[in-house]
Amino acid sequence: MVGKCDFVSVIGAILVLTIFHNPNIVHAGEGVPEVALFTFGDSYYDAGNKAFLSKKKNPPQTQWPYGKSLDDPNGKFSDGHIVPDFIGDFISIPNGIPPALKPGANLSRGASFAVADASILGAPVESMTLNQQVNKFRSMKSNWTDDYIEKSLFMIYIGTEDYLNFTKTNPTADASAQQAFVISVTNKLKNDIGLLYSLGASKFMVQLLAPLGCLPIMRQEHGTGNDCYEPLNDLAKQHNEKIGPMLNQFAKSPGFQFTVFDFYNAILRRTQRPHNYRFYVANSSCCGVGTHTAYGCGMGNVHSKLCEYQRSYLFFDGRHNTEKAQEELAHLIYGADTNVIQPMTVRELIVFPAGANMLESWEPNLSSVRRRPSTKSTSVYRLLDLVG
Ligand SMILES: *[C@@H]1O[C@H](CO)[C@@H](O)[C@H](O)[C@H]1NC(C)=O
Ligand SMILES: *[C@@H]1O[C@H](CO)[C@@H](O)[C@H](O)[C@H]1NC(C)=O
Ligand SMILES: *[C@@H]1O[C@H](CO)[C@@H](O)[C@H](O)[C@H]1NC(C)=O
Ligand SMILES: *[C@@H]1O[C@H](CO)[C@@H](O)[C@H](O)[C@H]1NC(C)=O
Ligand SMILES: *[C@@H]1O[C@H](CO)[C@@H](O)[C@H](O)[C@H]1NC(C)=O
Repeated sequence: MVGKCDFVSVIGAILVLTIFHNPNIVHAGEGVPEVALFTFGDSYYDAGNKAFLSKKKNPPQTQWPYGKSLDDPNGKFSDGHIVPDFIGDFISIPNGIPPALKPGANLSRGASFAVADASILGAPVESMTLNQQVNKFRSMKSNWTDDYIEKSLFMIYIGTEDYLNFTKTNPTADASAQQAFVISVTNKLKNDIGLLYSLGASKFMVQLLAPLGCLPIMRQEHGTGNDCYEPLNDLAKQHNEKIGPMLNQFAKSPGFQFTVFDFYNAILRRTQRPHNYRFYVANSSCCGVGTHTAYGCGMGNVHSKLCEYQRSYLFFDGRHNTEKAQEELAHLIYGADTNVIQPMTVRELIVFPAGANMLESWEPNLSSVRRRPSTKSTSVYRLLDLVG
């Protein structure tokens, strides 16, 4: 009898998970207000801005095989769409948001301020720091009403350049030098988020840093073979630990709302058990040259290899995910459970009344504890593994 109950609950869970996993269920229009989407950060969210700042005639991301899964390269670092395109799709922004630097762009549903090579600290070449991106937003702000900005979604993914640069320029940094650097990066990030809030933004989705040492380009540069380069993962972890508590503090300010996407563990799980997520290759990229096919995708002077079937790869180039992976990640951001994004999904964040104070806060151990749902069956936990 007990066995039978377990069986029934497993079947139930499969049905529920199937329904939740069906992309058509969590789609546009279902009670989701028409809001704008604004993105800030680096190449991961760049909708094409870098091409306007680069002195190069044909920067790689504007060249084949970037955009291969669509008709043409479009200045995005993927074989096709990127995470913000899918989020845009879910909230009925049909063709994605335009790069803010594109002259004459239609800004009615927001813009991407993210640009490749962007960092939080420092002076990135032919790029913008997060602070410069926020100031660009400030200069264009009167294109949108204050009410519209308040209910719109602000997505931020940045910090990779800071930590890659730090390990390159300070290869022998000890623990206290690392901590000091993480603190200076996260303090500056805090200032920039505060600046956005003072400009009227109130709904924030912050994506935690990936396990940077597992990026194919880092495995290749550090010659770690099938292993990740742990010093970079450590830095990313130290950075990530500061984000939730920082946002909890912000949420004490009137109307400040946020959620945190645990990109770190989402990528780590796919790296460790790619087959659970229907990826075949997670330790090297689809396009490039080198031990991990990780360098030079799209560069004119590099004779890159290109995998046959990019949907089976987690990474398209040395540090960016394939369109397939980005689509999966966007579904997690929009509709997954607290294993992956907390204290709420982006859908919940958007429908939460603008101007209201949050009812929940981010909790440090939620993602590792996996305490939801409270079911007895271990096989359900295996299924949850597949979802998150
Ligand atoms: C801008 O885009 C919106 C919807 O995304 C559309 O309704 C509007 O007509 C567009 N404006 C122009 C000038 O093309
Ligand atoms: C990289 O680090 C160096 C030395 O700290 C700094 O001068 C430079 O601005 C940094 N570059 C970026 C993009 O952060
Ligand atoms: C709207 O944004 C454009 C840049 O695309 C900027 O040139 C213009 O000044 C902005 N308009 C207003 C009214 O802020
Ligand atoms: C990646 O993993 C596969 C199988 O899991 C292994 O055969 C291959 O050698 C690994 N690639 C690298 C570059 O370590
Ligand atoms: C929760 O996280 C904190 C800080 O990261 C840690 O000190 C504590 O041991 C964790 N507790 C559990 C139950 O994992």
